[in-house]
Amino acid sequence: MTRVAIFISGGGSNMLSLLDAMEDPSFGAEPVLVLANSSKAGGLAKADARGVPTAAVDHRDYSDRAGFEAEISKILAQYNPDLICLAGFMRVLTPEFTAQWENRMLNIHPSLLPKYKGLHTHQRALDAGDTEAGCSVHLVTAALDDGPILGQARVPVLDGDTADDLAARVLVEEHKLYPTALRNFIAQRG
Ligand code: GRF
Repeated sequence: MTRVAIFISGGGSNMLSLLDAMEDPSFGAEPVLVLANSSKAGGLAKADARGVPTAAVDHRDYSDRAGFEAEISKILAQYNPDLICLAGFMRVLTPEFTAQWENRMLNIHPSLLPKYKGLHTHQRALDAGDTEAGCSVHLVTAALDDGPILGQARVPVLDGDTADDLAARVLVEEHKLYPTALRNFIAQRG
């Protein structure tokens, strides 16, 4: 059984879709920790209600990323995950940390990578006049939103769409894509 830690920053809808999927024994993984960079992350209570251990490490309590990540690594050592899934985790991790978790850390990003790395992906797709948008699951490397892509899902951009409309349509696909990409990744790891 693959041990999975999930990092969040907010409400955790992607985290919940992963927890739902891991309830299926054939998925081959179990959630061992949900960690947030703020104790105010709404997803922590949702994970707690599911009986998944939680932790909060507030990046504002540290003078630099190294200190923040050292505390995260201390907590990870207690739960000993095999994989980390970033799910709406809004902190950029250092090359040192991503190197420690090379080929063992996944992220979901709300665009069709390599297009629109970073923030405001839906508004940028609208501003560019794109006819389709989507989301991507990728392995995390030192370069932001740049690692090998494990899966993508596409949605149409409709006339009159706002960034919020598009975000809502893409989020539905995120909740399907992330569990599928994680399941396939775990199966391939053997
Ligand atoms: C998602 O669109 C995710 O792709 C992005 O942040 C949003 C957060 O969603 N990184 P949630 O916290 O999983 O609900």
